Amino acid sequence: MRRKVIAGNWKMNMLPSDTIKFMEEIDPLVKDSKNEVILCVPFTDLFYAINYTRDIPYLHIGAQNMHYEESGAFTGEISPEMLTSVECEYVIIGHSERRQYFNETDESVNLKVKAALKHGLKPIVCVGETLEQREAGNAIQVVNTQITKDLDGLTLDDLSNIIIAYEPIWAIGTGKTATKEDAEEVIKAIRDMVRELFSNDDVPILYGGSVKPENAKELFTMPNIDGGLVGGASLKPDVFEKIVNFDK
Ligand code: PGA
Repeated sequence: MRRKVIAGNWKMNMLPSDTIKFMEEIDPLVKDSKNEVILCVPFTDLFYAINYTRDIPYLHIGAQNMHYEESGAFTGEISPEMLTSVECEYVIIGHSERRQYFNETDESVNLKVKAALKHGLKPIVCVGETLEQREAGNAIQVVNTQITKDLDGLTLDDLSNIIIAYEPIWAIGTGKTATKEDAEEVIKAIRDMVRELFSNDDVPILYGGSVKPENAKELFTMPNIDGGLVGGASLKPDVFEKIVNFDK
């Protein structure tokens, strides 16, 4: 059985003091969960989050982006080694907000995924279609193209160190969640594509887009959905906890 993963994406929210308070509050609430819990925090919170969770095996910390170059004249960017230097474990790559507002392409996403893996970071690779693409009936074709390009050049070994998140853009931060059937259909198509590319499909594929305590269970118990990437509902421990503990 594939593991279930619940990852929070704090986006540009939370200060170090909020981070420490959050970790203190979430810790006892998810202690007994058998699901993997990851919190992807702003760069300025990484040190504090990792410091708190260092000896806590059930809380994992990630960043939300990085550059693919190792160092150099890239003002304002963070390198893979900078992330590993603070013992960061995961990194979100290719979130739709990065693609939309910061011109990330499948080519740069692919370079970042490869750079992350080379440095021992585990990428959470995000794909998803726009509302226009969905309405035109192209959702599956769009995500399959993204998957093929974003994972180009990866080995089967690499596959065991990545997580894929399917996040339909029209469902992110809008309160509109994909139905469990729609999410399952696309995630199954992604799994088929991964199997075609790697002759193996043993990779967690998460759903993201307005996940909340009310819809977590119905989504995460679909056969191909292995958990969620949670934005807004990951900012409050008492709300996020209910999503992590969807199976209780
Ligand atoms: P949301 O964000 O849960 O607030 O819709 C999800 C995401 O962008 O990862």
